[in-house]
Amino acid sequence: MKKAVIYAGSHRKGGNSDQAANLLARGVQEAGGQTDIIFIRDHAIMPCQACGFCDKSIDHQGSQRCILGEKDEAWTLFSPLFTARTVLIASPIYFYHLPSMFKTWIDRSQQFWTAKTTGEHWVADLPKRTAHTVLVAGRPTGKKLFEGAHITLRYFLHNFNIALADPLIFRGVDKHDDLSRQSDFEARIIELGHHAWTSSR
Ligand SMILES: Cc1cc2nc3c(=O)[nH]c(=O)nc-3n(C[C@H](O)[C@H](O)[C@H](O)COP(=O)(O)O)c2cc1C
Repeated sequence: MKKAVIYAGSHRKGGNSDQAANLLARGVQEAGGQTDIIFIRDHAIMPCQACGFCDKSIDHQGSQRCILGEKDEAWTLFSPLFTARTVLIASPIYFYHLPSMFKTWIDRSQQFWTAKTTGEHWVADLPKRTAHTVLVAGRPTGKKLFEGAHITLRYFLHNFNIALADPLIFRGVDKHDDLSRQSDFEARIIELGHHAWTSSR
């Protein structure tokens, strides 16, 4: 059975988005699915060197496409994006965007942008899928609070033929357990995990 993959983006262990990741997993499991949670903070990832190697190495596939190859754990985190039935993300907002470790990993996906835009089959022919996100932020207001994270995730996932659904957002969530004070938070997140599984194949 194909699995759902859940990426948890916070640098804080046991905080709001970790709780959201666990509830998403519960939703998937209650729908009869299987999933793994990947805590990005637990993985050593080097920044993109902007060396241009991935622009020139069109004969290379997989981890060989990036000059950093498997010297770190970026590829370990990319692998599920090739095989997952659906993708789930739970992340806080840091400075109106994704946390830096998450963004560092996303920058490393430049290799897939090149492969997708040049129509290389190993990337361009991936099955179409959908991703769902739970985003939490400390500020109670702010029209553009989630915009940067959402746009980046949309273009990152597009390279894997994964479309991004509208995010489930929680504002005014700052202390590590603030999420639990939001009305219906448990039911809404579990329902999203359930829906992600049942609406995918
Ligand atoms: C470095 C840093 C930057 C932050 N920047 C913002 C921000 O721009 N807007 C906001 O509303 N909250 C911001 N926050 C607050 C977090 O979004 C909030 O504490 C959230 O609940 C953390 O999620 P977690 O419990 O999953 O770690 C920031 C927190 C940190 C640590």
